[in-house]
Amino acid sequence: MKIIKVKNYDELSIEASKIVANLLKQKEDACLGLATGGTPIGMYQNLIKMYRDGEISFRNIKTYNLDEYCDLDQNHSQSYYSYMHEHLFNNIDISKDNIHIPEGNSGNNEEACRKFNELLNQSTIDLQVLGIGGNGHIGFNEPGTPFNQETFVVELTDKTRNDNKRFFDSIEEVPRYAITMGIKNIVQAKKILLLASGLGKAEAVARLINGEISEGFPASILKRHDNVIVIIDEEAALLL
Ligand code: GLP
Repeated sequence: MKIIKVKNYDELSIEASKIVANLLKQKEDACLGLATGGTPIGMYQNLIKMYRDGEISFRNIKTYNLDEYCDLDQNHSQSYYSYMHEHLFNNIDISKDNIHIPEGNSGNNEEACRKFNELLNQSTIDLQVLGIGGNGHIGFNEPGTPFNQETFVVELTDKTRNDNKRFFDSIEEVPRYAITMGIKNIVQAKKILLLASGLGKAEAVARLINGEISEGFPASILKRHDNVIVIIDEEAALLL
């Protein structure tokens, strides 16, 4: 893994957006794997600015999102569908047909997983953006998920639901299940960009960089991938 240390969140967002933009400049029909959460918001803002400045275009880009909550209306303000449209898609020239997000509210989650997994297997993601959960989860692959897992319905841990409750009115409103790309899907990407910012990620970052590879800490699988960039800011690097 190549580790890039930066000062703060703003620098992290700039570095991350440059990596994505460089890919888009080299390959106008690139395939991007995208993440939600608080961390990539600054990166998306910079990408929107680059698009508005005429530096990059998403016209022929395809995107695949990591995950989506189950049983939450697509138009709920906290669905990942809404998040992606608000923070990126509504502000760029991407074709709606090229956006792929797991369908968490179709009424048949198993079928939604099968369809999404089939789509993933028909494409090759050039660059997968990842955040990291405090417990080492990537996408919604919680500790203990087998490394050979493909797209599936996951029961979210209490830790993850608690971490994400800040986006909802109460803990009861945080969905209990989600559809996520499996670890096997994630590591099939040609290149992976993991972003971690803030003190809350310091322990997870230290374990990612210094710990063993184990299914108990899902992000550790990235050490077996030969093209991973990890960008961390000073706070996230505190325990290194
Ligand atoms: C969420 C998402 C992940 C994200 C992670 C960290 O639960 N499913 O894809 O990377 O948790 O989120 P944040 O960036 O808000 O810390």
